[in-house]
Amino acid sequence: MPPINILSKEISELIAAGEVIERPSSVIKELVENSIDSGARHITVEIKNGGTTYMRVTDDGCGMSFGDVPKAFLRHATSKITAKEDLDNILTLGFRGEALASVAAVARVEVLTKQREDALGTLYAIEGSEEKAHEESGCPDGTTIIIRDLFYNVPARQKFMKKDVTEANAVSNILQKITMSHPDVAFKLIRDNRVEFNSSGDGELFSAVYAVYGRDFARDLMEVDYEYEGIHVGGYVIKPLYSKNNRAFQNFFVNFPARLSVIPLKASSSPSGANTRVAIVERTVISA
Ligand SMILES: Nc1ncnc2c1ncn2[C@@H]1O[C@H](COP(=O)(O)OP(=O)(O)OP(=O)(O)O)[C@@H](O)[C@H]1O
Ligand SMILES: [Mg+2]
Repeated sequence: MPPINILSKEISELIAAGEVIERPSSVIKELVENSIDSGARHITVEIKNGGTTYMRVTDDGCGMSFGDVPKAFLRHATSKITAKEDLDNILTLGFRGEALASVAAVARVEVLTKQREDALGTLYAIEGSEEKAHEESGCPDGTTIIIRDLFYNVPARQKFMKKDVTEANAVSNILQKITMSHPDVAFKLIRDNRVEFNSSGDGELFSAVYAVYGRDFARDLMEVDYEYEGIHVGGYVIKPLYSKNNRAFQNFFVNFPARLSVIPLKASSSPSGANTRVAIVERTVISA
């Protein structure tokens, strides 16, 4: 074995980032979860070239103060926990304080953010963990984060990215699931300048499923509502007409504000006979 080296901060940042950020859809997942945690009611995601060159997430959440923005990009920096007891009562989607640090290590990041109570917002830029700008700026309440050139400084990771259309589909897929599990938030996905879907955020699971799967699918949904010993299972199932031979339409959400699942039924339980799967979208609420 060669002698043991202590890795430089730069290399260890890149290694740590690789554990959180694999592809554009992992960036979108982290940014959208942050937006939900910030109390946003409207979240817009825009991607270009599958997210490889451009991703934008805009929310109308609580925003960050001028002093907090650079801290948000430090590893193990979070506003979501302070003491170890907090780990037993986590109600937010994030808590590790790692996501933004990881994204900033492997991309060019720009943030515009403003808290409602502040007169001015903040413009912050960071590239490959290096701060490029931190100044006051006029901007709407909430936060916009723009990510450009993912893995621009890690060519080995770039090679693992798939075709733009595959990466865009992965982004779309993850946002669809988040949309259906948060019917109270309005989501919009813009893919290469075209709106792909748009949910109303009216709190109705049906509206979220409608936005994601479209009118024809939603028309044939049947509601499920079942309670047994404190466990509530709710949601939607669909007729065998929409039979699928894969699990793409199976969504299970447990211990979330809303939980959905699409469950294959045995052929014998389907009215149309053999080899038919029935998609079920359901919401499960498990009360303590
Ligand atoms: N859209 C946003 N609106 C308001 N604050 C934000 C937003 N995004 C990030 N933050 C702030 O930045 C902090 C760091 O975010 P980051 O995603 O890196 O960590 P986290 O969400 O706390 O934990 P995790 O790494 O598990 O996601 C958050 O704790 C939050 O205070
Ligand atoms: Mg987070």
